[in-house]
Amino acid sequence: MTRESTIRDLAAPLQAFGQLHADTLRQFGSRAVDLSYPNPRFHLDDRPYRVLAELASRATVDDLRYSPFGGFTTARRRVAGVLAEQHVLPYSYRDVILTPGATAALNVALTTLFTPPDQVMVVTPCWMDYPLYLANLGLGSQLVASTRDKHVDLDAIEQAWTPHTAGLIISQPASPTGVCYDADEVTGLAALLTRLGHAHGRPLMLINDETHRDHIWTGEDLASPAHAYRHTASVYSYGKAWQMQGQHTGYLAIHPDIADRDTLREQLVSAMRVTGYCAPTALTQQLLTELSPFTPDLGPLADLQHHTRHRLRESGYDVIDAAATHFVYGRVPSADDVGYVERAAQQGVLIMPSRLFHEPGYFRIALNTRGPALDRALDVLADLNTDGTGDHA
Ligand SMILES: Cc1ncc(COP(=O)(O)O)c(C=O)c1O
Repeated sequence: MTRESTIRDLAAPLQAFGQLHADTLRQFGSRAVDLSYPNPRFHLDDRPYRVLAELASRATVDDLRYSPFGGFTTARRRVAGVLAEQHVLPYSYRDVILTPGATAALNVALTTLFTPPDQVMVVTPCWMDYPLYLANLGLGSQLVASTRDKHVDLDAIEQAWTPHTAGLIISQPASPTGVCYDADEVTGLAALLTRLGHAHGRPLMLINDETHRDHIWTGEDLASPAHAYRHTASVYSYGKAWQMQGQHTGYLAIHPDIADRDTLREQLVSAMRVTGYCAPTALTQQLLTELSPFTPDLGPLADLQHHTRHRLRESGYDVIDAAATHFVYGRVPSADDVGYVERAAQQGVLIMPSRLFHEPGYFRIALNTRGPALDRALDVLADLNTDGTGDHA
């Protein structure tokens, strides 16, 4: 398989879904209920809009100027301070690189930390584009399935490891499932990575994607892998946290005790230039500086999660227990997730097949809407599971 054909194969499922999405919107217009791409139709918290208005009202000629590649020092310092409290680690501003979203942070991390023919393990189901980025950079993906309840399977990781394995990507909280790995799981993972790294003679790098960290609607604390394992680069998205995805605002932060910290900091800033990503816009850096000490109000999300999960379980679905994200992940009534999603689309309900997340047999709902529209969609899904088993054929 060439790099081009691998990329084509990885890109194809989302392209096919994009076609289904466009056709369904064309057919149903405003009657469609779109629970696919995570673009919520209501605000959890309108603080970004208020902050933007305030920033605009006091802007000066300096406010929209170029910033250094890693971002303005004041913004990086603010982020490092907040992260230091969250991870209980002494981050300095130079450990933090501001990026135009988590996507850029991931690419800058992968470019800097790995070199072909390195292989990187990815715990699945996973955010859809990790394998695509790895393929594009000439790095191998080793997909490692999680357990039936979508927790980390340490035995599977150990079995997947080869002498070419240079790292692992996980999301915590996990996307698309919304599962949060608890402190014991995180410690167990850190111990395994340490052991495998020693066997390899080179530390295994952990890419710790905390994009959904501020959407833990159960209120439990996050056990950050960064706290447990020093060879960690963490990724975050203000865009996701504050429902301003289109503003592409995030960062990459390396553990303060990571090997070759100084060199790595320079390489990461240089990668921002080489890749052409550059820091987020001057305005979004000001926005994140203002927002960073806060977290959004999650009360409305918790209500919506409880309601949706209750209704799906009532109609016989096997829904994965979770604590975070706007997503609900459940098993389709037959193993064919793509066919199931097409049947929902025929009735104007758009949800995503788990094939997009590198696992067959499940669906993902993004809680973009609430009230009667959501209930209409849940009625359609209930009808699609009339045998009430939720089991695979
Ligand atoms: C786990 C995960 N990582 C990364 C991203 C990309 O984030 P951003 O929109 O900030 O680029 C997403 C977006 O949904 C995500 O869910």
